[in-house]
Amino acid sequence: AKHACIITDPGVYEAGLTDPVKQQLSKAGLAVDVFSEAEPEPTFTRLNAMAEKLSKEGYDLLVGVGGGSCMDLTKGLSAILTHGGKGEDYSGVNKVPGSVIPIFALPTTSGTGSEATRVGVFRDPEKGQKLATISPYLLPRLALVDPVLTYGCPPHVTAASGIDALVHAIEAYPCTRANNFSDALAFEAMRLIAGSLRTAVKNGSDKQARGDMAEGALMAGIAFGNSGLGAVHAFAHVLGGCFQVPHGVANGLFLPYVIEYNLSANVVKYA
Ligand SMILES: [Fe+2]
Repeated sequence: AKHACIITDPGVYEAGLTDPVKQQLSKAGLAVDVFSEAEPEPTFTRLNAMAEKLSKEGYDLLVGVGGGSCMDLTKGLSAILTHGGKGEDYSGVNKVPGSVIPIFALPTTSGTGSEATRVGVFRDPEKGQKLATISPYLLPRLALVDPVLTYGCPPHVTAASGIDALVHAIEAYPCTRANNFSDALAFEAMRLIAGSLRTAVKNGSDKQARGDMAEGALMAGIAFGNSGLGAVHAFAHVLGGCFQVPHGVANGLFLPYVIEYNLSANVVKYA
């Protein structure tokens, strides 16, 4: 690669988290730009506008530094900058026609697991929907999961993104497509997240808790990437699409009711 673009949001940029990433890429001989216009719960409108601004630069590496929204936007940009068109064209399953500009992902929250999945989620505000773009081509080539990047994540974001990660593990486990591989990761992710989420919210610089959360969220991401999710995410995407409720908060609202409803279908796993 010769020309990289770091995709991030204003908060992550101001916190200085992209500086060491830029330095390392520059040291490796790449020209590096930083584009900090990502937004939380990103819309197709924002994705398309960002793509238009970046389309003439000839980037051959995109580096997402931030939470799920930054990494998802990086995936969407990679599809558009490679194959043209608009974000909506790639919405759905296997709509990306071929390989894309390589993606590196560096999560600054422990939540979506987007660094290890083929999924990007975008909002269509007019239709009040959140839609997933799912393609194996969108799997990041490199995921650098360093809990140090999450130390500055504020308590309410730590809580919401942490619940998202926990729900990924809880939904991946009883999923009808679950397998021994996803079960092992989902189970360990639940153990790590349940044991450390409260401490990570209370004390953001607790090394042990942040480390457990980073590993747990990554494992949960790989788990659901290999099994699937459930009704909590389906409902949360409607609530997020219509009312912009943050993804993790929406998940937390539905979790107890979905567990209660699903319980009788798989008593062994829910027990
Ligand atoms: Fe999620």
